[in-house]
Amino acid sequence: MKTSILSNTKGYKGDMLVYFCDSTEDGFQGFVRYYAEQYPAMTTLTTTKDFTGKFGTSFKIYIDNKNCPRLLIVGCGDTKKLTLEKLRQLGAHIAKTATSLKIKSVGVVLRNDFGLSIAKTSTYHKIGSHESTNATLAEAGAAITEGIRLGAYKFVEYFSDKSKTSNTIQSLSLVVEDPQTFTSEKRALQTEVEYAHATCDAVLLARKLALTPNNDLYPERLAERAQEVGKEHGIKVTVLNKAKIKAQKMNGLLAVNQGSVRPPVFIVMEYRGGKANEAPIVLVGKGITFDTGGISIKPAAGMAEMKMDMHGAATMIATMVAVASNKLKKNVVALIPSTENMPSATAQVPGDIITFSNGKTVEVDNTDAEGRLILADALLYAQRYKPVAIIDAATLTGAVTVALGHIATGIMSNSKELLQKFHSASAETYELLGELPLYEEYEELIKSDIADIRNVGIHGAGTITAAMFLQHFVGEYPWVHLDIAGTSITKAESAYSPKGGTGVGVRLLTHLLRHW
Ligand code: BES
Ligand code: ZN
Ligand code: ZN
Repeated sequence: MKTSILSNTKGYKGDMLVYFCDSTEDGFQGFVRYYAEQYPAMTTLTTTKDFTGKFGTSFKIYIDNKNCPRLLIVGCGDTKKLTLEKLRQLGAHIAKTATSLKIKSVGVVLRNDFGLSIAKTSTYHKIGSHESTNATLAEAGAAITEGIRLGAYKFVEYFSDKSKTSNTIQSLSLVVEDPQTFTSEKRALQTEVEYAHATCDAVLLARKLALTPNNDLYPERLAERAQEVGKEHGIKVTVLNKAKIKAQKMNGLLAVNQGSVRPPVFIVMEYRGGKANEAPIVLVGKGITFDTGGISIKPAAGMAEMKMDMHGAATMIATMVAVASNKLKKNVVALIPSTENMPSATAQVPGDIITFSNGKTVEVDNTDAEGRLILADALLYAQRYKPVAIIDAATLTGAVTVALGHIATGIMSNSKELLQKFHSASAETYELLGELPLYEEYEELIKSDIADIRNVGIHGAGTITAAMFLQHFVGEYPWVHLDIAGTSITKAESAYSPKGGTGVGVRLLTHLLRHW
């Protein structure tokens, strides 16, 4: 999407100009008065009362102007109560309106008070340790851009009807009408909007990967996709095939793959934006391209959504793309263990015992708890980088949805400092997190009678026991585990997130790495 930053709307050529209107008595009347001279039709706002400036509503005005025939007046409620998140939602409203009209170019007039009184974080974040400061106009513009980029997305790749479209907007102009603000904020706005575009491109990549079905995106195809984006963005990509995976003694990945005809892959993506000798941050993403459950097979109803059991992988591949296209000055590595989880005569069966490369033995009590088995190999592999931190993202447990619904990602960690970093990135990106504890008492729940540990826990706390399992494979390294089962595979759309693969984690992790 092409974006330009303009100092006024004079001569603007496009399909629609967007103005934000306050809903308070003074704000509303002031808005109409201010623009009535330029647009006499604006007075219909006061005469009809069809539109009051209520948050999330809008009103179209058609004007006699060859260059731009439409105005969209978007209600932002009481402007003083806006947050960056609400601006993202308004951005999504603009994108949906434009897309329903099949509009290609949109100009958005940024109110000056967007740079003065908009809180960066939500009310709840303020009760945590995260101080809420006011956003800059550049951050406000970037938030609206994010909403516009993410809000109208549809996965249309598989329709034979090619007129079905995702977001139709191809060109976006942001207008800062106040001359002084335009001069002082233009560069920062440019920087933030570019960052938003690059990051949103990556979010859309993650959504697309997540939603692509297993017959087109099995492990080797996922590796090809990683190689393609690696080439495009200057990321070194190495793919370990089954022979190399055997040589590396990745016995968890091999055990889960045992039931498949399609071979596993282990993808290594390396981006070096930092100093040559600087230890990297290692990202690990669960890449089960389809999870049938294996011999402990899942029920048929809803099984199709298990094509998204590689969303952790999609999130990490996309995050690498965002890191590289934003040219972050960090060394970042992504590790993706990938296989299908299939039942067959060669599949692993409950009771099997796997010995991992660190010597730990695991009793496989349920073949549907496969994610932790492949992640264990990747976490062990991560340690050879002597990383600053290891971060994994995985659609790991159905239990996380019981605890946090589809609203917040489960976060668990062995490091207070890392958690702090995540909470502040979460507050600013509004990718919501719910922290669960890793008390050592939970260790009891994954004890096995005949091996060191078992791959399923007893007595509840399924999300925590899965994380306790992973902790056996991270050594002493600072580590964060994100259980995205609820937030990546959603049942309904929200303001700027579609139903299905949401692209969760990409904005959060890219923000985290940018401000590390
Ligand atoms: N991929 C699933 C988790 C999942 C469930 C993700 C629903 C998204 C929606 C995972 O491999 C799994 O099956 N986990 C089991 C673990 C259990 C057997 C201990 C689960 O959550 O039921
Ligand atoms: Zn499973
Ligand atoms: Zn799974």
